[in-house]
Amino acid sequence: MTASTLTIPRIMSITNQKGGVGKTTTAINLATAMAAVGKRVLLLDLDPQGNASTGLGIRRVDIKYSTYDVLFNEVSVMDSVMTTKVPNLSIVPSSIHLSGAEIELVTADNREYRLRDALRIELPFDYVIIDNPPSLNLLTLNALVASDTIVVPLQCEFYALEGLSHLVKTIERVRKSFNPTLDIHGVVLTMYDKRNNLANQVAEDVRSFFGEKVYKTVIPRNVRLSEAPSFGLPAIVYDMRCPGASAYIHLASEVLKRERTINQQVLLAAPTTQTGTGA
Ligand SMILES: Nc1ncnc2c1ncn2[C@@H]1O[C@H](COP(=O)(O)OP(=O)(O)OP(=O)(O)O)[C@@H](O)[C@H]1O
Ligand SMILES: [Mg+2]
Repeated sequence: MTASTLTIPRIMSITNQKGGVGKTTTAINLATAMAAVGKRVLLLDLDPQGNASTGLGIRRVDIKYSTYDVLFNEVSVMDSVMTTKVPNLSIVPSSIHLSGAEIELVTADNREYRLRDALRIELPFDYVIIDNPPSLNLLTLNALVASDTIVVPLQCEFYALEGLSHLVKTIERVRKSFNPTLDIHGVVLTMYDKRNNLANQVAEDVRSFFGEKVYKTVIPRNVRLSEAPSFGLPAIVYDMRCPGASAYIHLASEVLKRERTINQQVLLAAPTTQTGTGA
């Protein structure tokens, strides 16, 4: 497959309405690790804060079109794509205009489907990874309607499960009304400190509730992960050997392994093609 071969990409949302749980860190480093093994990845920054864009070294002055233009100005995804320093990884950057998007969407036509309509086309990417804002507003709803699957970063703290049940209810509502095949790909425990008893307890609760959906890979608390964005680099590039980077490399291989299983299930479920019926 050449870099420009077109395909309908798999769309994966990194979602949790709780702030500061590691969504952007996961989006950047998962995207980078998937790109490193040859997947063509587009990271779409849907958060007005724009942390995924700055974390990948995108400078505001270099942005011509952003996710805002894709949603509201009929700019095509390909016209807003920017390359990054990471081979195989591109980005649609965020812009501060997105902070008004919520209000603009309320009265917009087709308001839940705007991102889906923009992304459900043939693109030169295998995966689109969406970094979501910390809310369940219309922007996030657009991401959930557009997505095939969701990765939920979860920080093991006291209210984590409560927040998660709210997210699960929202996903069920989205499935019923807009996107029947939306699926939770997995839950990733982030900023994990194994010396913390509460974190261990919460991790156990999450595993007993979500079972196999919780990835085996756990992302440890690691200062290198928080330093890397200020250099405009994914931690995997900034310091490939740090524990945080190797955890994200493991996570990507687990995610891709699950993807292969999902593909096989889809193939098995597909009706066998009829031959000899051509006109
Ligand atoms: N495993 C980790 N170890 C140490 N620091 C981390 C780790 N993961 C994320 N951080 C830091 O924690 C902060 C929050 O992480 P991040 O921005 O990824 O969360 P977020 O869920 O995207 O936040 P928001 O909801 O504001 O978008 C950042 O400063 C980030 O660098
Ligand atoms: Mg973020």
